[in-house]
Amino acid sequence: MTDAPATPTVDGRLHPTEIVVWWADSADWAADADSLLALLTEPEMDRHARLRRPADALTYACAHVLLRLLTARELGLDPGAVELVADPGGKPRIAGKRLPGVSLSHSGRLACAALCPTTDIGVDVETSPSRAGSDRLAERVLSPGEIEEWRSGGSAWQDLMVAWTVKEALLKASGLGIAAGMKALHVGAPSTATGHPLTVPEAMAPPEGWTYSRLFHIPGATAAVAAASPGPLMASCFRTRRAERGMP
Ligand SMILES: CC(C)(COP(=O)(O)OP(=O)(O)OC[C@H]1O[C@@H](n2cnc3c(N)ncnc32)[C@H](O)[C@@H]1OP(=O)(O)O)[C@@H](O)C(=O)NCCC(=O)NCCS
Repeated sequence: MTDAPATPTVDGRLHPTEIVVWWADSADWAADADSLLALLTEPEMDRHARLRRPADALTYACAHVLLRLLTARELGLDPGAVELVADPGGKPRIAGKRLPGVSLSHSGRLACAALCPTTDIGVDVETSPSRAGSDRLAERVLSPGEIEEWRSGGSAWQDLMVAWTVKEALLKASGLGIAAGMKALHVGAPSTATGHPLTVPEAMAPPEGWTYSRLFHIPGATAAVAAASPGPLMASCFRTRRAERGMP
């Protein structure tokens, strides 16, 4: 694990098939909260204000600012000049820039931002500790075949979280979001680091046009990235500890 921004670059640019993920424990950024908020747009500030738990609000701000910092670095812009907007379905994009692949995720204290210069991507992080009710969650997330596999494999919470994050990353990359139906997406038992989904919702076909990759570098979390690409994916994951990186 390395502190950003030591991203591998080609002549100062990312490799075309590379996905870079910056993640942070938002508690590390608490002292910089004012600088974080200064970079949010009005709609983001509204959303931030609606989050009741201060810790969730900080992680939200952190994820949105991380994505700005990462984009600013890649495009050679001032972070304040990066206009982060969302399409009507909620998929984030950078206004006025040809940068198809940006995504973000926040869970508990963990914030993640991801960028790929050439294709649509999704990132997802989950920190949920093991809890009762995993059967009900499995019914919502897994396809019938996956449920069978999951039960015969011991119904482990971690396996469910892996399937969940891989599916969310794929659905975010597609822009369809959860509405497309997690159960329509069959990824099997994605214990391997990287792979293709086996079945996808019609709007995402064909399955081999999508690749996911688990991220193993975020302690205490399950995380994955996905891309609209037959692969292979090159995913680099960096922790950002303080907001000094590229902050105005
Ligand atoms: C995308 C989605 C699966 C993420 O859910 P989540 O695990 O709760 O949240 P995460 O922190 O991992 O990701 C949230 C980010 O996903 C992104 N996102 C939202 N909708 C997206 C979409 N359709 N495609 C790609 N990315 C999307 C946003 O950047 C969002 O960040 P924000 O909430 O800070 O604006 C979910 O919000 C979704 O499907 N939204 C679409 C609308 C929808 O279907 N609503 C019905 C919900 S039951």
